[in-house]
Amino acid sequence: MKHLISPLDLSVEETEEILTLAEDIARDPKKYSHVCQGKKLATLFYEPSTRTRLSFEAAMLNLGGSVLGFASGDNSSASKGESVADTIRVVSGYADIAAMRHPKEGAALVASLNSSIPVINAGDGGHQHPTQTLTDLLTIHSLKGRLDHLTIGLCGDLKFGRTVHSLISALVRYPDIRFVLISPEELRIPAYIRKEVLQQNQVEFIETEDLEEAMPELDILYMTRVQKERFFNEEDYIRLKDKYILDTAKMKLAKEDMLVLHPLPRVNEISVEVDKDPRAAYFKQAQFGVYARMALIMKFLEVEVC
Ligand code: CP
Repeated sequence: MKHLISPLDLSVEETEEILTLAEDIARDPKKYSHVCQGKKLATLFYEPSTRTRLSFEAAMLNLGGSVLGFASGDNSSASKGESVADTIRVVSGYADIAAMRHPKEGAALVASLNSSIPVINAGDGGHQHPTQTLTDLLTIHSLKGRLDHLTIGLCGDLKFGRTVHSLISALVRYPDIRFVLISPEELRIPAYIRKEVLQQNQVEFIETEDLEEAMPELDILYMTRVQKERFFNEEDYIRLKDKYILDTAKMKLAKEDMLVLHPLPRVNEISVEVDKDPRAAYFKQAQFGVYARMALIMKFLEVEVC
């Protein structure tokens, strides 16, 4: 049985299999509409979500399966003090696969160690978000045609942004990937990503505070929200939250075929005027999330089209 806690739980070959399947699902979703009949997905969300929870649920429903779960810890027996380990032991008897989001780093790993069904990490604190990474890889592959030979700018909250940590971990496995890490000093990428992921894999990267200077060289600009919920002090959040605002003036500095991605939700960091720019791909990206999760559920439940 497989769990997905970090993007590295999938080999490059397994990741590519999932992306290929997801691209086929996107082309012909009807072909897959019954493959999970009789199967159940549990969504155990201890932290708010729109895209991840609903796209997981849409994915299972699109595959002909059913869904059950909770959308906040307050609506579950966690509010009475039940542990993640006990909850997943019980849910293992109710569902065939579980997607779990939790504010604590490592919670999904704890669940996987106590589960008799596959556990998918739908975001654990500021740590990892591997299904967002599958979504991001699918978006880049579908719209750019490749996952190699790319200069990728990651901008905003690189310290707490779990989507960034997971995306870097996955992309360093492809040839000729270069990162431009754009953040204020206080929100720089964590040391473990810099040392154990980027430097250890000998991946070229630069760190800068200057988005405008970086714009002309980027193939992908991945914007992120400053993660208010991870700050210890409101003053710091207010000081940093509007440091980067992508607007049409900055888009003029970019390549004609640069893609703008964002895991969403957006707050102020992309001006709504950018939505009309054909390079703005973040709403398409949210749709790709359904196909990526459909493919992942199929692989983990080992179901195929008849
Ligand atoms: N991208 C993402 O994780 O969005 P949600 O928080 O809405 O699930």
